[in-house]
This record gives sequence, C-alpha cells and structure tokens, in this order.
Amino acid sequence: MSPHSDSAHAHGHGHGHGHGEHRTDIDWEVMAVQLENNGELQLPVLRLTAARLGELLDPEKEVRRILDVGSGPGVMTCVLAEAFADAEAVAVDGAPGLLERALARAERLGLGGRVAVRHAELPEGLDGGDEHGEGGLGTADLVWSSKAVHHLGDQQGALDALAGVLRPGGLLAVAEGGLPMRFLPRDIGIGRPGLQARLDAAQEHWFEIMRAELPGSTSAVEDWPAMLSRAGLTRVGSFTFLLDLPAPLGESARAFLHAQLARMREAMSDYLDVEDRKTLDVLLDPRAPEGILRRPDAFLLSATTVFTGVRPAR
Ligand SMILES: C[S@@+](CC[C@H](N)C(=O)[O-])C[C@H]1O[C@@H](n2cnc3c(N)ncnc32)[C@H](O)[C@@H]1O
Repeated sequence: MSPHSDSAHAHGHGHGHGHGEHRTDIDWEVMAVQLENNGELQLPVLRLTAARLGELLDPEKEVRRILDVGSGPGVMTCVLAEAFADAEAVAVDGAPGLLERALARAERLGLGGRVAVRHAELPEGLDGGDEHGEGGLGTADLVWSSKAVHHLGDQQGALDALAGVLRPGGLLAVAEGGLPMRFLPRDIGIGRPGLQARLDAAQEHWFEIMRAELPGSTSAVEDWPAMLSRAGLTRVGSFTFLLDLPAPLGESARAFLHAQLARMREAMSDYLDVEDRKTLDVLLDPRAPEGILRRPDAFLLSATTVFTGVRPAR
C-alpha cells in the first residue's frame, strides 16, 4: 500500500521525532492489532505479490534468506516463508512487541522453524554485518520492505543500504506506491459530499509534516524506479495489485476501517473543518446506522504498487 494508507496512524511516542503542536511520531506497538488486521485483509494481495516476486527472480537463483525490513507483525514475513519453502524469512523491526507477534504468528502457521526476528533501529541497523549477519542484518536473496522506507529521513540512503545487503542476483522489492484507500461513496448522506478527498488532503498534510520531522529528513523526488537504479540495481520495474472488497463488508474489514477513521479523527482533526469532524464522529459511532460498523455501502478498495530491482550477478 501507499504511504497514504498508513499516514493515518496516530501520534504517540515511537521513534521520537515530532514536537510541538504537530506530533507525528508513531507508537507502532499500539498499532499492532490494526497492522495485523490490515495484513490479514491484504492476504490475497500479499500472496499474489510473493508469487510475482518469485517470477522476477532468475529461475536458477536459490532463495535461502529473506529479509522483511519494517515487518510490523510479520504477516508478509510469513507469506514469504510459505512462498519460498527453502528459505529462512527474517522479520526486522524496531518495535519488539511487533516482532513477538511475528514469532507467535509463525508458530501458529507452523512456520516457526523458518521465521526469525531481528530487532533493529533503522537506518543505523541497515548494515549487512558479516556473512552470518553478525553485527548487522546479514545478506539476503530477497529483501522486502513495505511502507517502512518513508518513515526514514533519507529514503535514498535507506534504499542504498537495502540494496547493499542483497546477494548477487538478489531482488529488492519496496511497497511504497499505490493509491489512497477508498471505502465510502462520494455522498454518504451526512455532512458535505467528498469527505474522502478531504481526508486524503489532510493525510498528505500530515505526511509532509511527518517526513519533515524525521531525523535526517532529506527531500527527494520520489521516483522509486530511478532511486532503485541509483542504488545500483538493474531490471528495475513495478507492479500493482488491487484489493477489492465490495459492500457489504464483513466484520474484520469494518473493524479495520473503524480503527483507521478513529486514528484520522485523532491525528488529523487540525486539518479538517468542524462539519467533517462531526461527520467522522457519526461514522465512528458504533450504534449509528450511518456508522462505518453498520452502514451497508462501505466497501474497501486499495491499490498497492511494488517497485523492484535486481542486484547484478557481478
Ligand atoms: C507502516 S508499518 C508497516 C508494517 C508492514 N511492513 C506492513 O506493510 O503492514 C511501518 C513499520 O516500520 C517500522 N519502523 C518504522 N520506523 C522504523 C525505524 N526507524 N526503525 C525500525 N523500524 C521502523 C515500524 O515499527 C512498523 O512496524
């Protein structure tokens, strides 16, 4: 998914950036259930993505070690372990509580022997270390990173480091593009029509401040294929998959959207007018028939773009 989809995440006390009126630092541990719920909703897309990554690797290339950098609760780590049956998949994250969830998930799915976790604060922890990963992440045949690079001040530096841990012929895949999620019609019968477009604008505003407040924040033209080429990768390209859950939504999708809207209401209310804040309150009311938990017209449509590149064999 695009940065848009997580820019709704509430402020907290995660990585210590942000200050004053616009706190944009994020407590990722608090996000655990929401991240795992989102990952589970995205499972069909994640499985298609893993299969496509397999097609992008040379057929003779053995995939023995996979890194999922900024893994969160490890939903994709486990999908990758399932898709690449000879590989060890390592979830790398700065939030220990999320890594515990990744391990518990792997155990539940019977993947425990092939899923490991590595606590790392990025970008410092992006070093490859020696060949066994001592003192760093170690090398890998496939490096996956979804919606994490945009939380690092120097995105090109992060891509350079991720490309640097690839073994020859290895693939780097970053999910950093797509479209803002859609889940409501233009006119929802309450408030002013076009709420989602205004929520998108509020999120863009939040996102810009979040990035500006990151340690070592560097602005860059976010031309991901060009950035991957600059990181020394070849066969650079991208692909996009859609998640299309039509109305009426099931319970877990509604719960996900409720949490998403609650976080927007909390983190972005400064950028919304009174009428839109009231509309959000109705959408969040669990008893209101117009609320997101009950209204019949809520759907979920999201597009995730993955940018890929291969480390030349020599
Ligand atoms: C938006 S979540 C994405 C989680 C998962 N990859 C997904 O796509 O659902 C970003 C993840 O990156 C991690 N993260 C963000 N900044 C980090 C940093 N500086 N060091 C280590 N991990 C970080 C967070 O803990 C969180 O799990």
